[in-house]
Amino acid sequence: MDVFDAIRTRRSIRKYLNKPIEQEKLSKILEAARLSPSAANRQPWKFIVVTDPKVKEELRAAYDRDWFVSAPVIIVACALPGEAWVRSDGEEYWKVDLAIAMQDLILEAWEQGLGTCWIGAFREEEVKRILGIPDEVRVVALTPLGYPAEEKGPVTQRKPLKEIISYNHW
Ligand SMILES: Cc1cc2nc3c(=O)[nH]c(=O)nc-3n(C[C@H](O)[C@H](O)[C@H](O)COP(=O)(O)O)c2cc1C
Repeated sequence: MDVFDAIRTRRSIRKYLNKPIEQEKLSKILEAARLSPSAANRQPWKFIVVTDPKVKEELRAAYDRDWFVSAPVIIVACALPGEAWVRSDGEEYWKVDLAIAMQDLILEAWEQGLGTCWIGAFREEEVKRILGIPDEVRVVALTPLGYPAEEKGPVTQRKPLKEIISYNHW
């Protein structure tokens, strides 16, 4: 699968098989996140890999969906804003850094035959409490990770190019 194929066919998966993930695959997926670019190469991130069924069940308090807690793994992407690059006008880039790393992780997972679903609608304070995440750390995204138990074709609901691209000026 080339990069464009992965981008074209990847879908959010909200149904997972009860099948463990091979360590080799998990390692490669985490390596994809590690290799991601970040502003000034600060790498202001930590990823928590939740595999303990008890902890996954506790995460319901943060995002209460059966399909979410049923995945064999949940990955929690955390930012360290204090280590991240800040533009001269004060704009903070840690969310951008984390988004790039998450997307690389998600695409590598897809290449390995594994599904994910970016979760943004979680309760951050609950995630931090359950996982013992320090105050100064921010949780940017969660994703379940596992073998898909649903088949979805490539996405069709995207704006057409002519609506989103302009040349030279707005
Ligand atoms: C930043 C972000 C936050 C999202 N948050 C959620 C979420 O909380 N729950 C959910 O079920 N899907 C969530 N999604 C998945 C989107 O709904 C999904 O990517 C979009 O509808 C396009 O579908 P596709 O991923 O299958 O192409 C999120 C996606 C992104 C990029």
